Amino acid sequence: MLFTPLLIGKNEISNRIVISPMCQYSALNGLMNDWHFQHLVQMGLSAAGLVMLESTAVEEKGRITNYCLGLYNDDCETSIKSNLENVKKISNNITKFGIQLGHAGRKASTQRPWEGRLFLRKHESPWQTYAPSSIPFDKGWHIPKKMSYDDMKRIKDAFVSAVIRAKRIGFDVIEIHAAHGYLLHQFLSPISNKRKDAYGGCLDNRMLFPLEVIEAIKMISGSTPIGVRITGTEWEKEGFTIYDSIKFSKKLANLGCDYVCVSSGGNTPRPKIPIKPHYQVHLAKKIKHNVDILVRTVGMITKPKSAQKIISDNNADMVAIGRAFLTNPRWVWDAGHVLGVNVNLPKQYERRFKKL
Ligand SMILES: Cc1cc2nc3c(=O)[nH]c(=O)nc-3n(C[C@H](O)[C@H](O)[C@H](O)COP(=O)(O)O)c2cc1C
Repeated sequence: MLFTPLLIGKNEISNRIVISPMCQYSALNGLMNDWHFQHLVQMGLSAAGLVMLESTAVEEKGRITNYCLGLYNDDCETSIKSNLENVKKISNNITKFGIQLGHAGRKASTQRPWEGRLFLRKHESPWQTYAPSSIPFDKGWHIPKKMSYDDMKRIKDAFVSAVIRAKRIGFDVIEIHAAHGYLLHQFLSPISNKRKDAYGGCLDNRMLFPLEVIEAIKMISGSTPIGVRITGTEWEKEGFTIYDSIKFSKKLANLGCDYVCVSSGGNTPRPKIPIKPHYQVHLAKKIKHNVDILVRTVGMITKPKSAQKIISDNNADMVAIGRAFLTNPRWVWDAGHVLGVNVNLPKQYERRFKKL
């Protein structure tokens, strides 16, 4: 059930509700500030089982925008550590915190959503982007540098050192971003990966770099659970499919990953996505029924009873919810009320349903 605790690796989360990672595009030089603090306090009081921090870049060039959070130097580590410690002091102690680590590849060096979400122009401090092949995301976008083996080693090492930093900070879960058209997804996809070497061509070759990165992470992650956000489909005829996704998930399970979060799209500019409530649940279900790994689903899940049904129907082990938490950070409190479950509120707010 939605409010039944779940073990992710050796860490228990108190319920199956996860606040989906959501970029705030508000960092300066990769560092957190008061905006992130207030955001995390709101989410930390939510009573969700797990709050995922936004996609955090493992190297400066891997940021999506000039305002993305980073975990690539000591200042970044200190800024996240001190904010998280302060958030934990006041947050509901049943909530756990995870961080999503990523590299934007050819989708780096872009404007923030409210600035247009396009590639950065000359006067906006753009930078050289990297990808498996020199294929831009869309017409007019930056042409990425085809990654050399040195680039691949540098980025793999950057993932590993960001995981070491995330462990030092004390995250309960670490998630690797391999979806939404960012670097690891770019390697997986036949649309963005046209390499002629061992890292391109058939699916096994395209999976090689992402799997090498995950394997290197698993060597040092110890008891911290590692999850991966994957793409269930690119919604493109010639693209990465749910069958590829099942194969990739099996490899992740074999490497000892603890869960996959099944999202979709993002690697092409105009895929035809049948967007409607729960439009990605069938993808999660396929993986859940074919692979021995915990599965999180996401995408337009907004109602407590239908979230409960996803879990009770065994379509997924967890639900991630994004935008509904921006509208209502008390979503879990209300879900508890709807489903008749007692939610652990801060004492100061316990009287919300009491008569004056
Ligand atoms: C403001 C915003 C920022 C997002 N940032 C990220 C991110 O950092 N990493 C990620 O994997 N997905 C990101 N997403 C996608 C969400 O995690 C989620 O998958 C998507 O919004 C669908 O879920 P929803 O319908 O519950 O919002 C973002 C979405 C929004 C609205």
